[in-house]
Amino acid sequence: MNKCAVVVILAAGEGTRMKSSKPKVMHEVCGYPIIEHMVRTAVEISESLPVVVVGHQAEQIEQYLGQRVRYAYQSQRLGTGHAVMVAHSILEKIDGYAVVVAGDIPLIRSSTLQKMVEYANEGGYDAVALSAILDDPTGYGRIIRNEAGDLERIVEHKDATEEQRRINEVNVSAYCFNIQLLLSSLNQLDNNNKQGEYYLTDVLHIMKEAGNKVGVFVAQDSDEVLGINTRVQLAEVEQKMRQRINRYHMENGVTLIDPNNTYIGPDVVIGSDTVVYPGNVLEGRTIIGEGCTLYPNNRIVNSVIGNQTQVQASVILESRIGDETTIGPYAYLRPGSNIGNRVRIGDFVEIKNSSIGDRSKVSHLSYVGDGTIGRDVNVGCGVVCVNYDGVKKHRAVVEDKAFIGCNVNLIAPVVVKEGAYIAAGSTITDEVPEYSLAIARARQVNKEGWVEKRQLKKKGE
Ligand code: UD1
Ligand code: CA
Repeated sequence: MNKCAVVVILAAGEGTRMKSSKPKVMHEVCGYPIIEHMVRTAVEISESLPVVVVGHQAEQIEQYLGQRVRYAYQSQRLGTGHAVMVAHSILEKIDGYAVVVAGDIPLIRSSTLQKMVEYANEGGYDAVALSAILDDPTGYGRIIRNEAGDLERIVEHKDATEEQRRINEVNVSAYCFNIQLLLSSLNQLDNNNKQGEYYLTDVLHIMKEAGNKVGVFVAQDSDEVLGINTRVQLAEVEQKMRQRINRYHMENGVTLIDPNNTYIGPDVVIGSDTVVYPGNVLEGRTIIGEGCTLYPNNRIVNSVIGNQTQVQASVILESRIGDETTIGPYAYLRPGSNIGNRVRIGDFVEIKNSSIGDRSKVSHLSYVGDGTIGRDVNVGCGVVCVNYDGVKKHRAVVEDKAFIGCNVNLIAPVVVKEGAYIAAGSTITDEVPEYSLAIARARQVNKEGWVEKRQLKKKGE
């Protein structure tokens, strides 16, 4: 595989049509900013760090991408040709091919760009533009070919004649250029067009006139070209990418009951024979094992789930869950929850920064915060780890095989030793020895006849 020497991503534009306070390329598609998708694609096909041309709200993009790329600054947005010019000082030191790509086409595949580079290489081209055939080419630059079928020039929609607008082969905004020829041709650009901009597209015509070899490579999948200029297009691209991701998982042996209502991020891994019901949102670096069932309406972020585990209507953040465990409905696992195998976490249970050992049960209405719960522990309904004294957080430790009755408060720091029982309604402040029973609640007092004495109610009325 012949990589290109460098990729230049144009991302200085304001994205006016997004009507947003943040730069267009920072809007998210399937959970990541548009620019993230572009940079990942660039890294796959180039030999050196990608160059990102930034301008409008450059700091936001720089803050996000950090040192993963090189930057060129376009202080005035004078057009896509001008955007490449500002990368001059970086590009002049590099020989070979540069791929130049608009920053707003995240569906573009690295394999397509790679094929374009190979086409340029094999044909000895000085420049190749990527094109695609669209049913509705409105808004895109059109590929104008001569009688021989070779590229004549690219005409922007706004500059095109009625006849040219009927052409449905469009410019994708991804090109492969001989770097040194690109730089010398950029010097000859003018801005005599409807938008008064320096169009990168004109460079191809200039190069051709100068006798260089200029060609077009047609992309197979027209979906790849969809650019994002508006929020409507943002949603369209999101849907296409989602379909691509979902198809990948189904082909890998995952059942998606309704792929149109399943939201899986690009980095999520799912084992085979897992079934995903509608309304699941799987984000970040989440890994789901084999044979799991994700019943409707979960949000799972940066978490690892074992095999044969079932989750329903729950939120799981930065946590780990073992095999054959059941979570939910309506459980909330906050960061740092480490749940073992064959555990049962039931409804309205919140867990944070805690571990729950194998086969333990926290079935209803409990809060386990900063707790270390052993294996085979039963945590009754309504148990609270009282972990915060207003200043500091403290740990509650419950050893293996302990039984915590309903409505118990464990005032941390506290330890419940192995096999101990705690009576319902107890407020535990001291260590409970192993295999003993702790009762920490006021004794019941019955005052016979109290109601009638007070004349509140009469018997038999
Ligand atoms: C561009 C192409 C058009 C193509 C379309 C595909 C030109 C002149 N036109 O049009 O032929 O069909 O993409 O999506 O190239 N940018 C800068 N600096 C600027 C202007 C733009 O960095 O001064 C960046 C933008 O941030 C954007 C990219 O270049 O990421 C494309 O610019 P945009 O204004 O979206 O171009 P289109 O009108 O879509
Ligand atoms: Ca665009």
